[in-house]
Amino acid sequence: KLGEKGVAMIGGIRLFDEVDSTQNIAQRLAEEGAPEGTLVIAEQQTNGRGRMGRKWVSPSGKGIWMSFILRPGMPIHFAPQLTLLTAVALCRALRAAAAPLDIGIKWPNDLLVGGRKISGILLETTAEEERLRYVIAGIGISVNLTEDDYPPELLDIATSLRIQLGRELDRAEIVASFFAQFQQLYAVYQREGFAPIQTIWEALSVTLHKPTRLIVGGKATTGTPIGLNDQGALLVRMDDGAVVPLFSAEQVPPQG
Ligand code: BTN
Repeated sequence: KLGEKGVAMIGGIRLFDEVDSTQNIAQRLAEEGAPEGTLVIAEQQTNGRGRMGRKWVSPSGKGIWMSFILRPGMPIHFAPQLTLLTAVALCRALRAAAAPLDIGIKWPNDLLVGGRKISGILLETTAEEERLRYVIAGIGISVNLTEDDYPPELLDIATSLRIQLGRELDRAEIVASFFAQFQQLYAVYQREGFAPIQTIWEALSVTLHKPTRLIVGGKATTGTPIGLNDQGALLVRMDDGAVVPLFSAEQVPPQG
C-alpha cells in the first residue's frame, strides 16, 4: 500500500482512495497552515491536471499521484529552479527503481524514456509581494499502467514503467526513494544555491545540444538549447547566433 514506507522529509502523509486532484487537497491544507513536507497521495484522481490545463490520466492503483507542500520563502522568480530540482530527484529515483531503463529529463517538467513521457511535474505557486508563500509540487508517475489504460491518441507519446520493463514495480518504494533524493538535493540547494543542481540537471537532460523547433515571440524557428541560466530558463542558441532565454516549455513543440 502507498505510504507504508517511511518517507524522510515528510511531516504528515495524507492518503486518499479518490480525489479530484491531489493539487487541490494540498493547496487547501497549505492555506490552513500545513507545514513544509506535508504530502497528499491518492490511489485515483478523477480530475488530475497537467500543465496548460491538460488532463492527467490517473487510474486507480496504477501510478503515483501526489502533491507536497514547500515553503522555501524566496522570491517568486526562482520557482522554476524548484521544478528542475524536482526533475533531478525524480530522474534519479526512477533510474534506480527501473534500471536499466534510460530515463532522461525533457526541459522543464517531463521525464522521458525512449522519447515517451513517463512522468510529469506540475508546480503551482502562491506568492505575496513577489515572495513565495508556498509551492504545491505535484508529481504524476505512470508506474503500472498497461496500454489499455491510455486513450489511443496518447499511446505514441506516453508510456509506463511497466510497459517499458515488462513487470510491475512497488510504488511505495519509488515514493520513498524520490523523497530521499529530494531531501538531499533540497538541502544542497538551500545551502549552496542552484549551481550544483544545475550541473546534475545538465547531465540528466535529453533536451540539450539537439537542434529543436521553437516558437519564440509567436514565430516558428529553430535553435539549439545549450544550458540553463541561473533562474532555470533554457538558454537557446538561435540560428543567427543570438542566445535567448526560454521560460515556457510551450515554446518547444512536443515533437522537438
Ligand atoms: C504535466 O506533465 O503536465 C504535469 C503532470 C502532473 C500530474 C500530477 S498527478 C498529481 C498531481 N495532481 C494533479 O492533478 N496533477 C499532478
